[in-house]
Amino acid sequence: MTRQIYKVASVLLCMQSVLTFEEKKGYFWQVSDFHYDANYSSHGNPLNMCHQGQGQGYSNSQYGNYHCDAPWVLIESAINAMVKFHPYPDFVIWTGDSIPHVKNSDLDSLKVYENIGNVTLRLKQGFPNTTIYPVLGNHDEYPADHYPNGSTNYYSDILYKSHWHTLLENNTADEFKTGGYYQGHTKTGLVMVGLNTNLLFSQDPLTKGTGDPAGQFQWLRRKLSEARSLNKKVILFSHIAPGYFEKYQDLMWFYNDYNNEYIKILQTFNDVIATQVYGHEHTDSFRLVKDSYGEPVDILFLSPAVTPWNSSLAGVGANNPGVRLYEYNQNNGEIINYWQYFLNLSSVISGNPPNWALEYEAKKVYNLTKLQPLEVLALVNSFDNDKFNKLYMKYLQFNSVSQDVMPYCDESCVKQHFCAISELEKSGYQSCLHGEITTHHPRPHHSTPKAPPKDVPKYMEYVIIGLGAVVLLLFIVIALICLKKHRFIPNRYSRFNSNLASNPIN
Ligand SMILES: *[C@@H]1O[C@H](CO)[C@@H](O)[C@H](O)[C@H]1NC(C)=O
Ligand SMILES: *[C@@H]1O[C@H](CO)[C@@H](O)[C@H](O)[C@H]1NC(C)=O
Ligand SMILES: *[C@@H]1O[C@H](CO)[C@@H](O)[C@H](O)[C@H]1NC(C)=O
Ligand SMILES: *[C@@H]1O[C@H](CO)[C@@H](O)[C@H](O)[C@H]1NC(C)=O
Ligand SMILES: *[C@@H]1O[C@H](CO)[C@@H](O)[C@H](O)[C@H]1NC(C)=O
Ligand SMILES: *[C@@H]1O[C@H](CO)[C@@H](O)[C@H](O)[C@H]1NC(C)=O
Ligand SMILES: *[C@@H]1O[C@H](CO)[C@@H](O)[C@H](O)[C@H]1NC(C)=O
Ligand SMILES: *[C@@H]1O[C@H](CO)[C@@H](O)[C@H](O)[C@H]1NC(C)=O
Repeated sequence: MTRQIYKVASVLLCMQSVLTFEEKKGYFWQVSDFHYDANYSSHGNPLNMCHQGQGQGYSNSQYGNYHCDAPWVLIESAINAMVKFHPYPDFVIWTGDSIPHVKNSDLDSLKVYENIGNVTLRLKQGFPNTTIYPVLGNHDEYPADHYPNGSTNYYSDILYKSHWHTLLENNTADEFKTGGYYQGHTKTGLVMVGLNTNLLFSQDPLTKGTGDPAGQFQWLRRKLSEARSLNKKVILFSHIAPGYFEKYQDLMWFYNDYNNEYIKILQTFNDVIATQVYGHEHTDSFRLVKDSYGEPVDILFLSPAVTPWNSSLAGVGANNPGVRLYEYNQNNGEIINYWQYFLNLSSVISGNPPNWALEYEAKKVYNLTKLQPLEVLALVNSFDNDKFNKLYMKYLQFNSVSQDVMPYCDESCVKQHFCAISELEKSGYQSCLHGEITTHHPRPHHSTPKAPPKDVPKYMEYVIIGLGAVVLLLFIVIALICLKKHRFIPNRYSRFNSNLASNPIN
């Protein structure tokens, strides 16, 4: 008898989850910007990337130095921390840039493939049974930033010399060869779209003015349309994000025409794109996509780097090494929360052991009930309205992964962050920066006065009855599917054993 009740209950639960995209929590890691420098020396000159040379006896730490890119021990330490904090995520997103910030003349193609390949193997060693979704960074090409408008052998070399064929499925690998972009699928049916936005980067001399570099926009539109028609949700990930760098005024990453096209796609398909994650900036930030009413419809999450390297852009500064664990809804792909982990490198440099720790938990620290666009916009508006806002000071500290714990940010700096977060396009950004502060304008309500109730025409009755019948039929079909599922995969939808990893901080 109890078994019967249990069976009925679990079938009902299944139906509920099918009908409502029930929140089913899963976890994934994002790791970005390793910038592994094989020539790092703890006795090398910090003003020369900590390389050995004239003048020695420096005492950089074994785990790195803010003036330099990541030594191998830091790469290992970051991956070991991920494995320690959450060894069995649903998947790992790796958002590129494994090559150090050295002159092109210090490298060649083979060195680039070997460098990326070693990072690939080490990541795979840490997560042997987990799908790893990699994307390329602007430094991963040789020479850096020179991605061509079209297919080249480079992509096959990355697959076979840097071992990415062990990460990507076969059909995906073929797609990858056309331009470094591809599509995958999670076990719960989400579509994973990995892009090569380095093709859109304003530092790439080969794709300027080519319209649609390597045909990526067309491909992306097609994939998003397909996902929409199959009623599937998409997780989008790439190295470089659209919009402006929040730490450097007027620096838009893409060519302006590509930025516009990219934003248009994000707006057109915001019903399909559930989540977006990026790297590249080495800083911790986020951005909002707005629709044509100025209403926020999507969040871009920007995860910080493993390399601590002090940026060559004046005033940008260094960061602590970080890795990020997201909690997401396995059914609709939306981010629920994330945990940002970090290594306090200055503590390591002063002789303490390399202890990775939780830096913050997003929902808790920002006092949000959900990581949703409207709540995040409200948070960001509060930044702008009061620069001594405690939450804003926290955001600013996290922006450097707590490398700078007392960040100074004057009024124009506050504005720069605010405008980069809330305006992705040139005109909006410029008027935000130089004009009036644009706080949130609610969507205009097209509330035409209610028409007086009319008599329902006869044919409408038939339509309503017809629709009712269709809904009933659908209900029965779903019930049958659930019944069948229940037979073969008992308890799959039971809430009682779905608390897998409910406490990711262990
Ligand atoms: C390391 O330094 C050597 C000697 O200068 C150079 O030939 C090599 O390309 C460097 N390797 C990397 C990965 O930077
Ligand atoms: C890559 O790994 C191989 C095998 O462990 C090693 O011989 C080589 O020096 C490594 N190269 C770099 C750039 O780390
Ligand atoms: C990965 O799977 C293999 C084969 O099933 C197993 O032997 C190994 O222990 C697994 N590794 C981890 C880290 O779970
Ligand atoms: C990928 O292709 C190789 C040979 O080209 C084959 O051995 C392997 O089974 C294929 N893997 C998948 C997942 O299809
Ligand atoms: C860029 O590549 C596309 C194909 O991906 C091609 O149609 C187009 O002509 C190319 N444009 C230039 C300027 O080379
Ligand atoms: C980064 O470089 C700037 C300018 O050279 C310097 O003022 C700053 O102290 C450096 N940051 C760190 C953490 O070393
Ligand atoms: C990192 O360590 C330094 C030196 O031990 C300390 O001053 C600083 O407060 C620490 N930062 C954080 C965020 O804990
Ligand atoms: C957090 O938000 C709630 C409303 O959502 C507010 O009542 C509370 O004061 C906030 N707490 C802090 C510390 O800002």
